[in-house]
Amino acid sequence: MQARASAQTQLGCSRQSVASSVALATSRADRHATAEQVCGYLGALLESAGDAITSGDFTGKMLSWNHAAEVFYAYSEKEAVGEVLPMVPEGLLPEARSIIGRCQKGETIRNIETVRRRSDGRLIPVSVTAAPVLNGSGEVVAACAISRDISATKALREQELKMARLNERDRIGMDLHDGVVQSLYAISLRLENCITLLTTAPHQVPPSLEKAIAELKDVSQDITHYVDGLNGSALTVKDLPGRVASFAAGLHLDAHIVIERPLSSELDATLSARSVENILHIVREALTNVAKHSQARATQIRLSEQGDKLVLSIKDDGAGFIGSCDIAKLGHGLRNMSHRAQTLGGCLAIKTTPGIGTELLLELPL
Ligand SMILES: Nc1ncnc2c1ncn2[C@@H]1O[C@H](COP(=O)(O)OP(=O)(O)O)[C@@H](O)[C@H]1O
Ligand SMILES: [Mg+2]
Repeated sequence: MQARASAQTQLGCSRQSVASSVALATSRADRHATAEQVCGYLGALLESAGDAITSGDFTGKMLSWNHAAEVFYAYSEKEAVGEVLPMVPEGLLPEARSIIGRCQKGETIRNIETVRRRSDGRLIPVSVTAAPVLNGSGEVVAACAISRDISATKALREQELKMARLNERDRIGMDLHDGVVQSLYAISLRLENCITLLTTAPHQVPPSLEKAIAELKDVSQDITHYVDGLNGSALTVKDLPGRVASFAAGLHLDAHIVIERPLSSELDATLSARSVENILHIVREALTNVAKHSQARATQIRLSEQGDKLVLSIKDDGAGFIGSCDIAKLGHGLRNMSHRAQTLGGCLAIKTTPGIGTELLLELPL
């Protein structure tokens, strides 16, 4: 205990803290008593601290080791004091020495994330703050360190990272399904149609093939942009009608596109490229469904700005389907659309009647 008491005296009595108390004392005896009192108080504080607080000389030899350090590193004070950095793993000794060197020059280093080793060999992630210890004349005489176990914080961070990765994976899967996969499906339909044209109208084959090639180039460019993290080209609301029309044409849909009112130019400022891209993905999936499942004669795509809402309706006069109107219980494509609508802060509704047709209604707040 003697070693702990003397080390704490050296550690605890920083020049300023004692000086301010001592300044109040008048006689030398009073000053001495006050200094003793302050040091005793600081010593008690060190002992009751929840963080491991240690100090050492400039070779790394431990001078003090509080109670929390005993618990944290599983070295008793007796075992640790006098040893050179017993809690630092071999590979991290250069880092620890560099920290001590900086403290020796008077620097305080805050919240370094590193690793320490317990006496049983277990490694613990820690956050360390190291500071110089000054004597009564203001000279740096040692370095002290406060170490905090950050295992829980790290585990939480890793969990968050894992969740973010999973969400990202879902998002990429969804984007591929609604984007590239649908575009490739549309191109495959065009190529299939070329086979029919070969016998019925051969002169239409070359332009159709040229379109397919151009569309494949677009897909390849979309993928490149996507991989580059650009999430497709920087789409704006004004690009929507053109993109929707060319996609519908690729699916050979008799699609009528209605923009009810000229979309205001402010929309471009309100809707991010990512939002426009989400809307386009919804339209692509909906149109692919019309082509795949509805046998519709006509499809109407209506985009309108109604007050503070952007309303998109995709309506076909096809087969309709019997099924739950609870989108969550439907297929992958419909679920993706619903998820995208939620991401945009809006909602998606589906109205379908067998033999009459299907309407998908997307409402987005602006
Ligand atoms: N416009 C539509 N007309 C008729 N049936 C549709 C239409 N849209 C969706 N469906 C039905 O809903 C089902 C689920 O659609 P979706 O979630 O996109 O999955 P997928 O297209 O992969 O089958 C389809 O299999 C189809 O039976
Ligand atoms: Mg689908």
